[in-house]
Amino acid sequence: MKFTFVTLFQNIVEGYFEDSILKRAIQKNILCIEYINPRDFSSSKHNKVDDTAVGGGAGMVMNPQPLYDVLNELKTKDKDVHLIFLTPVAKPFRQNDAKRLAKKNHIAFVSGRYEGIDERVIEKYADEVFSIGDYILTGGELASLVICDAVSRNVSGVLGNSDSLSIESFENELLEAPSFSKPKNYENNCVPSEYLKGNHSKIRSLKLALSECKTKFFRPEQLLKHRTRKSYEK
Ligand code: ADE
Repeated sequence: MKFTFVTLFQNIVEGYFEDSILKRAIQKNILCIEYINPRDFSSSKHNKVDDTAVGGGAGMVMNPQPLYDVLNELKTKDKDVHLIFLTPVAKPFRQNDAKRLAKKNHIAFVSGRYEGIDERVIEKYADEVFSIGDYILTGGELASLVICDAVSRNVSGVLGNSDSLSIESFENELLEAPSFSKPKNYENNCVPSEYLKGNHSKIRSLKLALSECKTKFFRPEQLLKHRTRKSYEK
């Protein structure tokens, strides 16, 4: 699977792949990463990529010309490239998006800096627009990495053990049950005794109960969703 990062700040993105599980996937040619800097496509004298906002407003907005040229070229080279824009003004990115997008062959992330990207670029080129949360980052690069990471671990071969994908938080709306490692007793704090007895059906029920507890505490709306779905399935 190929990821293209359209960004003015390749350094920010690049560093992530130098030391992560994704590095191994890149070495094994399961993932391939490409960078494109819109500045290299600017037709202005000083390779300008931004300007003040028409109609007023603070900050600089990324001009359409360099991005139109980048994205035209990308689409010409690969008509099936899936173009994702990152902005806080968008639908929230979720685990089911990560799973769905893992089936694509080529995703390009377009990151805005400054006050954002000229809306005409988004209107013309975006296949999808995502926000990673209700807060404002200084640019879309971190958001594109978050999505790239969440998508990549659903690409076959990226994680060593695909079991770890099947029982994760959000797979069934619930947050995952707590995990414990060794030793069984650490500074007088023991792991739940049921985990030690080897009765897998009992362990499963306990994990479900703990998972519901965690969800009720941290994300009550998710528990409601889970229960509603379950009652429809009956
Ligand atoms: N760019 C700035 N803030 C963002 C956010 N919350 N999500 C995606 N892109 C962004």
